[in-house]
Amino acid sequence: MFKDLARLQAKLKALVTEQENLCQQGKVADYIPALAKVPATKIAACVANINGSSVGAGDYQEPFSIQSISKVFGLVMAMNRIGDDLWQRVNMEPSGQPFNSIIQLEWEKGIPRNPVINAGALLVADVLTSHFSTSKLAFLCFMRTLAHDDNIYIDQDVYQSELEHGNRNAALAYLMKSFGNIEAEIPAVLSHYFTQCAVAMSCEQLAKSLLFLANKGVDPISKQVICTPRDAHRVNAILSTSGMYDQSGEFAFSIGLPAKSGVGGGVVAIVPNYGVICTWSPPLNSFGNSVIGTNLLANLAQELGLSIY
Ligand code: DON
Repeated sequence: MFKDLARLQAKLKALVTEQENLCQQGKVADYIPALAKVPATKIAACVANINGSSVGAGDYQEPFSIQSISKVFGLVMAMNRIGDDLWQRVNMEPSGQPFNSIIQLEWEKGIPRNPVINAGALLVADVLTSHFSTSKLAFLCFMRTLAHDDNIYIDQDVYQSELEHGNRNAALAYLMKSFGNIEAEIPAVLSHYFTQCAVAMSCEQLAKSLLFLANKGVDPISKQVICTPRDAHRVNAILSTSGMYDQSGEFAFSIGLPAKSGVGGGVVAIVPNYGVICTWSPPLNSFGNSVIGTNLLANLAQELGLSIY
């Protein structure tokens, strides 16, 4: 499917050119002020193949804030670290609520609906903070290993900005702590979570780093086992049902790939047994998903027949 790289690159370029004038649709995230500084005109698409090759168009080698895409990596680390005990503390159902909603969390006694809404990712951050002596460094090392690139860093500007405007996440974490579902001290949990959200990576680095999810848990480049085939299946299932938040149903309906978005404007989509697509465009729709990033994925999935359903 991704064999003719020259044709694929031409397709990516054509799609980027077609979409680049639409950046006035949607709004760049500004609730984390540092994110609002990123030009709305940035646009990129990259495809990484499980044979190790990759092609891209637009700003696909430019780092951006990965934000909630980091939740995928944190989840894999936590699954590897504590196994099935994780699922006693977080559920695997779609939430039907915005990514930072707090209402359901009280109704459901501090058990987040899934690990990719903010509450769930904070729970995962607690697992990492409690089970790694230096969880932030462990996270960064994991990213560098997966991307085969040591040139991945934490954007301190974004980190500080989110720390200063993180009251909603603090509220989620304290509410879970009140139910006994958070072990570590809240400032440490928040610091880990904001650090992983502030990691900066390009579309190319992100697409390569998620290839193990398209390859039953094995990094096809290093041949290293990153997670079990069962856990790769589980992560893809969660991304299919919840990765695009309250737009996950529509995304499955129209595109049909496990995917995860971030408020930095990135979207990753897993194409099992073939590869990973990553798109980037900062303006977001009302669900917090990139407008153009989603359009690019929709076009590619349609033209290449990528749906898993
Ligand atoms: O916690 C937050 O609100 C952000 N650091 C991450 C949210 C996010 O990326 C949602 N995704 N579309």
